[in-house]
Amino acid sequence: MPASAPIISPSVLSADFAHLGRDVELINDSDADWIHCDIMDGRFVPNISFGLPVLQAIKRYARKPLDVHLMIVEPEKYLEDFRKAGADLLTVQYEACTHLNRTLHAIRELGMRPGIAINPATPVELLRDSLADADLILLMSVNPGFGGQSFIANTWNRLQRLRALRDELSPDTLIEIDGGVNDQNAAGLLAHGADALVAGNFVFKAADPRAAIASLKTHTR
Ligand code: DX5
Ligand code: ZN
Repeated sequence: MPASAPIISPSVLSADFAHLGRDVELINDSDADWIHCDIMDGRFVPNISFGLPVLQAIKRYARKPLDVHLMIVEPEKYLEDFRKAGADLLTVQYEACTHLNRTLHAIRELGMRPGIAINPATPVELLRDSLADADLILLMSVNPGFGGQSFIANTWNRLQRLRALRDELSPDTLIEIDGGVNDQNAAGLLAHGADALVAGNFVFKAADPRAAIASLKTHTR
């Protein structure tokens, strides 16, 4: 396969919520591909971020697809609400879904691209029977709940195992890495099989966020 540019998905969790429109415009005017939106309910994760009205507000400014990451219990209750709010990709946590197959198919039937997020302690081999139903696997490289955490080193091993499974079972499913991504680990992650990178703090705490996005985009996969 010829080398290609990675998909970059800046996380607005690290944006300035008092200037969200401005920060979404910043992503619009950058080399980013998607806009990562982290929805936290204070139950699946020990933090509350933002919900549907804020997502709708982001959608009004966004000129790139919304990559929505649900860190909530019972996500199946809200799929249509997230479509109406503007989600293009909708990712649910493996650990939050009793009937994952049904949920992934429901997401696709609503016209969104389904994704599965998987926590650092959940073996990637548990995705064997679900990979083909997902357009995206979001491999968590931190415990979900907060921006600005350190990358967990065991992710390297997990990514290699996930990549092998993906290549065997569902070559078109994308692998996205979320948590602690920066300019130091981006090239290695892409070399180990990632297709897409989420970055929150690395982008929004940079002096020049657009340049930070551009620096991630220069690597190849
Ligand atoms: C963490 C979220 C991430 C977060 C990443 O629970 O899922 O998307 O925004 O932030 P950084 O890149 O700062 O680790
Ligand atoms: Zn996320």
